[in-house]
Amino acid sequence: MPKLVFKSTGRTVEDPQEIKSFLEKYGVLYDRWGVERLPKHLIENYELTEEEQQQIIDAYKEELEKLKKEKGYITEDIVVLSEKTPNLEGLLEKFKKEHHHTDDEVRFVVHGSGVFPLKLDGEVVEVWVEAGDLIVVPAGTRHWFELDENRKIKCIRVFKTPEGWEAIYDENNRATMND
Ligand SMILES: [Fe+2]
Repeated sequence: MPKLVFKSTGRTVEDPQEIKSFLEKYGVLYDRWGVERLPKHLIENYELTEEEQQQIIDAYKEELEKLKKEKGYITEDIVVLSEKTPNLEGLLEKFKKEHHHTDDEVRFVVHGSGVFPLKLDGEVVEVWVEAGDLIVVPAGTRHWFELDENRKIKCIRVFKTPEGWEAIYDENNRATMND
């Protein structure tokens, strides 16, 4: 089950509609696109050919085009993290450091699961995502990412520009960016 966990109190929200409306207040888009339309081999396979990656993207063409049009995104790809990912531990070390981007971080989870802790008004709210979930972390929102006990995730990512998606770790840069 997807859920929100408020770190200061431990309060948990599991209702998808409630998750959505809470996050909406902070400009974070959460939605459920589901994975029912995908054949099993595309869901579970973590070593996809380019053709298979395209098949996944094509399956969500309608939703992706709508999102791209609304938010000005131009391109998408597939990203996987699993025990087979070279330097997985090194990557996870990097992802779990608090940072933000000058572009939105867009992830649709095709398989696996993970946690996006977000800093919303100074409070850490964990967004636990799983297969079928879409999350859009807006530019400038401090966050980090961790795998959960499943230790794997496969996502569609959507971008405006590759440059906008570099992580900015320095707290001081945030003020500059918002000037
Ligand atoms: Fe990020």
